[in-house]
Amino acid sequence: MKERNLPINPNGGALKGVRGMMLTFIDDPFLRNTSECYTIYNDGLAVIQDGRFIDVGEYADVIGKYNDLTDIDVYDNSLIIPGMIDCHLHYVQSPMIGSYGGSLLEWLNTYTFPTESKFKDKKFADDVARIFFRQILSQGTTSANIFATTFASSVDAIFEESERYNTRVISGKVLQDRNLPDSLKDPDTEQSIIISENLMNKWHQRGRQLYAVIPRFAPTSTPDQLQLAGELYQRNRDRGVYMHTHLDEVQSEIDWVTRLFPDRKNYTDVYDYYGLIDRTSVLAHCCIVREEEWQTLHAKDCGVAHCPSSNLFLGDGEFKYWEAKNAQRPVRVGMATDVGGGTNFSVFRQLGEAYKVAMLQDHSLDAVCSLYLATRGAAQTLHLENTIGSIAPGYEADMAVIDLAPSEFASWRLQFSDDIWQKLFVLMTLGLDNTNRATYVAGKKVYDRRREQPFEYADQLK
Ligand code: GUN
Ligand code: ZN
Repeated sequence: MKERNLPINPNGGALKGVRGMMLTFIDDPFLRNTSECYTIYNDGLAVIQDGRFIDVGEYADVIGKYNDLTDIDVYDNSLIIPGMIDCHLHYVQSPMIGSYGGSLLEWLNTYTFPTESKFKDKKFADDVARIFFRQILSQGTTSANIFATTFASSVDAIFEESERYNTRVISGKVLQDRNLPDSLKDPDTEQSIIISENLMNKWHQRGRQLYAVIPRFAPTSTPDQLQLAGELYQRNRDRGVYMHTHLDEVQSEIDWVTRLFPDRKNYTDVYDYYGLIDRTSVLAHCCIVREEEWQTLHAKDCGVAHCPSSNLFLGDGEFKYWEAKNAQRPVRVGMATDVGGGTNFSVFRQLGEAYKVAMLQDHSLDAVCSLYLATRGAAQTLHLENTIGSIAPGYEADMAVIDLAPSEFASWRLQFSDDIWQKLFVLMTLGLDNTNRATYVAGKKVYDRRREQPFEYADQLK
């Protein structure tokens, strides 16, 4: 972790301060002694210049160093944490979130595919992207790894809106050329790769935007498409391009993959065979994973997205964090909403669901470990742990401000909890809709629940 403060850039922008109780992780509590993994500043001050933290510490220790720092936002009865990171979700499913659906495969056919077919229309895609960002920002999410769908219009819409807020988004065209309706299917496999490559060249590393090669999951791509997708990923992996897909979500899906790819050892091996498993691969769900698959995911240093509310809603299966975090061969794990399989846009609310999923299997996920999965752990999953997910000098200045009095009842209830971890656990469990009070993206307060205009694009703010 970079800990020393950075010098002020004399030619840079004005200094900005954010003051209040602050919490950030410095190490992985699944693998190290919990109390050594985080820092809490009771009256903290984060100093920001040009979108990055240049200094963080107790207010009394830091303020004297910055004569020019007059613009300071102060938060009482709150906890400032790194902006939360959603490791897997589908913005294109916002219009059908909460649909009654039966099993995963029924739900995909009945609601998901018809909804995603509408994103050929750029105007529709723009409208959904606009609403979607308001949802995630109001919940304190500042970075997300997002599925678009087949159409280039769906990719442009999500990146364009992300650029307006200056959020860190990973997204890309979804590759899918079989086993789904013609309205959503890639009509030409080779062309689907060319369209992806053009979008990649347009969006990858433009500002904070990053591109992912996204085969939806093995059953909806022909072997040819998986082969070409793997080649595209391998050609661009060294410049930070991702691979993002679903893996081992539910038994009926795994059985289908076994029938479609009888020569492969297991589901992970299908992706690995086509060159899709590597350092910047992110695999969503991973509920039913064989030991040999975990070993591959560890050996290739992949990231795994834990999607508890979706897994409960779709009756998929249960993620086993103790398997993923086995100290002999740990795998990177981050939290995810998986909207629209997930039932809300809040990473923080997933933590209450993650607790219940683990309890069903006789494991209890504590507040330290679960908040880690929403912040630094999620950054690690995306291999961005030196860039986002921590409040420390050099990091991009993304923050969420957790309200420690979000309602009359919650405020009353929290007085009976002794320390901040107990309070956080209660808030995770209550799963209120308004736990987040304000959201900073690269140092700008793009969301403030109490402001007349709660949402502002980055360039509208000083
Ligand atoms: N597997 C393939 N597509 C999807 C999807 O859209 N949602 C979920 N939860 N699983 C999938
Ligand atoms: Zn998904």
